[in-house]
Amino acid sequence: MGKVHVLDHPLIQHKLTHIRDEKTGTKEFRELVDEVAGLMAFEITRDLPLEEVLVKTPVAEAKMNVIAGKKLGLVPILRAGLGMVDGILKMVPAAKVGHVGLYRDPETLTPVEYYVKLPSDVEERDFIVIDPMLATGGSAAAAIDSIKNRGAKNIKLMCLVAAPEGVKVIQDEHPDVDIYLAALDEKLNDHGYIVPGLGDAGDRLYGTK
Ligand code: URA
Repeated sequence: MGKVHVLDHPLIQHKLTHIRDEKTGTKEFRELVDEVAGLMAFEITRDLPLEEVLVKTPVAEAKMNVIAGKKLGLVPILRAGLGMVDGILKMVPAAKVGHVGLYRDPETLTPVEYYVKLPSDVEERDFIVIDPMLATGGSAAAAIDSIKNRGAKNIKLMCLVAAPEGVKVIQDEHPDVDIYLAALDEKLNDHGYIVPGLGDAGDRLYGTK
């Protein structure tokens, strides 16, 4: 079963509290999401392999570490996932960015894919699927299916806030995928919103309420 990593560093908790606050406006919300995504990138990339290189400092030559050219792919789920991409790219600028677009069929309520574009070397990359809100888990599970069907093997899921219901769906359907969160909240309400959550992440990021 995939592990759940709750990245509850004080800086992340502090910023997430302001993100949740209904009084936080679009500009500040977007900036805070970007900052938290960057902070979360630290922990998500903790297992990147290193290799030694020789470096000449002004004082001496020494063997030091650099990242060993591991190829990363970020896959935001449209549209709210886009709000976390730049913060991660500031930490790992060499990552390539794919996109998965899904909408919910109004009759079956299941996610339907309308757009997928991934880096051409899918099989050589480790992927981070990104969606701020892991609510029912339907979209994230479908996005992971979609990139697995195209050859992706090593996948992590990164969200700001999750409901236990969504975590369970990912653990059941994708037991190979570890989940990285800033917070694991209480539950979903009858409208599918995470409680206490932060409202509609896409609307708050883009001011479309
Ligand atoms: N999507 C959101 O943006 N917010 C929620 O609370 C649940 C799903």
